[in-house]
Amino acid sequence: MGVLVTLPPNPRMELVLSRETISRRIQELGQEISQAVGDDELVIIGILKGAFIFMADLVRALNVPAKLDFVRLKSYGSLTESSGQVSITKDVEPDIELRGRKVLVVEDIVDTGLTLAFLRNHLEQHQPHSVQICAMIDKLERRKRYVELDYVGFEVARGYLVGYGLDSAEKYRCLPDIYELKV
Ligand code: IMP
Ligand code: MG
Repeated sequence: MGVLVTLPPNPRMELVLSRETISRRIQELGQEISQAVGDDELVIIGILKGAFIFMADLVRALNVPAKLDFVRLKSYGSLTESSGQVSITKDVEPDIELRGRKVLVVEDIVDTGLTLAFLRNHLEQHQPHSVQICAMIDKLERRKRYVELDYVGFEVARGYLVGYGLDSAEKYRCLPDIYELKV
């Protein structure tokens, strides 16, 4: 078998996290979360659309019973920065009981923190046992609201990232690796 060399799909992109690096880290996260949760059933809530690929890999690295659901949030503002006004366009399904349950939110990337601050507050109104957050990437540069992140895949200082679920105006989500988009 030859060695696979991943070239950026276009010259404005620089590889930040390869599929191998992502995959190894997800195995570690899966073990860490499984040990912390024990035998309790988790309710895992993914934030659409960005988290769908990360969540698909993460749930297969877990060793705990889990129910899965998704929410979709809309944050108003410019193309590149959220204004702080967040609303829900798809809520947790009514048949997914949250009261008294251990909830794990799965997010692709945390930027200002406004989306997760809003969602945590929203979920806590259902009186779950706990709400923990697993973010694939913690992007530190533009945090406006402190949010406690229980599990983090990677810390990245800055830059606009695409691939592995992350998009720029709906492009690049399907790339298996993560790139920084250079403007
Ligand atoms: P926050 O509310 O500012 O933390 O924004 C979170 C949302 O903005 C994430 O769930 C992403 O959908 C999107 N986002 C923030 N930074 C990036 C990025 O570098 N690439 C792709 N999407 C991003
Ligand atoms: Mg998102």
